[in-house]
Amino acid sequence: MTQDRAAALAAIAQQVRECKLCRLHEKATNGVPGAGTVDAEYMFIGEGPGFHEDQKGLPFVGRSGDYLESLLKLIDLKRDQVFIANVVKHRPPDNRDPMPDEMLACKPYLDQQVEIINPLVIVTLGRFSMGRYFPNGKITQIHGQPKYDNARAYYPLFHPAAVLRNPGLIKEMEADFKRLPEVLAKVKELRAKGGSPKSDNPNDDPPQPPKQLSLF
Ligand code: URA
Repeated sequence: MTQDRAAALAAIAQQVRECKLCRLHEKATNGVPGAGTVDAEYMFIGEGPGFHEDQKGLPFVGRSGDYLESLLKLIDLKRDQVFIANVVKHRPPDNRDPMPDEMLACKPYLDQQVEIINPLVIVTLGRFSMGRYFPNGKITQIHGQPKYDNARAYYPLFHPAAVLRNPGLIKEMEADFKRLPEVLAKVKELRAKGGSPKSDNPNDDPPQPPKQLSLF
């Protein structure tokens, strides 16, 4: 079945590369569908490709990517053991923020990737991916606080680029990152029991149920 899932993921990647659903493809060099293993326990979701990602068609391969890799190392992981994606899959010109209609156009791709990978922990990097799962969340208040729902954890983190710009955040980022294995263990326990605990963050709205997968 892993093969079928990998094929479904590859089909989405191809659709992303050919995607013209919003204006972002016009100025982009390559679509950046996401990369990693279909069997990932952790899925990291960033904002959108930057210059280097656009050149290579791969997520987080610039400075932020180097930093993300060093963070993964803190918990003994390499990037090919997780899945890394973005909220928008083509580079916003001049690295501007993605616009709401661009994020909406790209949403089915990310929804389908989540559905196929079925990660135990979704780690949001920065405010745009955080907004998908914590619509009322403020990153400075909720970073590092897992929300458990449907036997999955949603874990908001600062964006690596924001930490690089503001080294005062490094300690908090590393401490948040090092708690990931604990969060994963809790989800595994939950799945074994077939239950779901209440959120650690009672002010948050529950995430939306996954959409029907159109590729199967
Ligand atoms: N920043 C992101 O949010 N995503 C990338 O892929 C690279 C930098």
